[in-house]
Amino acid sequence: MGDTASSASASSTTGRSAAPEGFRVLPGRLDRAAQESLLEEVRAVVAEAPLFTPEMPRSGKPFSVRMTNCGPLGWVSDRGGYRYQATHPVKGTPWPAMPQSLLALWRGLAPEAPDPEACLVNLYAPGARLGLHQDRDEETFDAPVVSVSLGATGLFRIGGLARRDPTRSLRLASGDVVVLAGPARLAYHGIDRILPGTSTLLRDDGRINLTLRRVTPLPAP
Ligand code: SIN
Ligand code: FE2
Repeated sequence: MGDTASSASASSTTGRSAAPEGFRVLPGRLDRAAQESLLEEVRAVVAEAPLFTPEMPRSGKPFSVRMTNCGPLGWVSDRGGYRYQATHPVKGTPWPAMPQSLLALWRGLAPEAPDPEACLVNLYAPGARLGLHQDRDEETFDAPVVSVSLGATGLFRIGGLARRDPTRSLRLASGDVVVLAGPARLAYHGIDRILPGTSTLLRDDGRINLTLRRVTPLPAP
């Protein structure tokens, strides 16, 4: 499965500090109509699986971002740690199904990979942020991470494979899609802040990010 990874180009990394190979930004990948219909699907997910406030492992400090999930597995975090689980941490019910439009997007961008198992829904209210981190709670890093932005523009920070590597920041607008594939699969990244007043998609100046991931090892060929 390494080939999906190595075929991904770092086409958009022309800035000062290069992000690892395999980092791609696809500006405007979803047009307004696609954003609106995806938003409706996200609203249906949230109606079934309400947003919850994750907490930092050990300290229990609440995240500023609220979250939910769809797909067979969902990412959760509480005092017990970060993990994937098949049920909502408050409601105890299975996560809603992943919208077909997200599966289609994934299949287009990660044609070699089996379908994603998790779609993390992050809601950033104005003032929310997400510290620099790696996505490394999965059992496999072979498949890419695909992430979709809706609503207000986010100031996204991308670094290297070590926390202290140089980083650069770029704006992710509504409809933009980011792919972390190959070496960039484990690149440090985060959201410094969102820029209110940059989108009319959401009523309240919020930003939604949907992150699609494979969690368990790919089936043997
Ligand atoms: C994440 O790293 O989970 C989300 C990134 C983003 O909001 O763009
Ligand atoms: Fe992440």
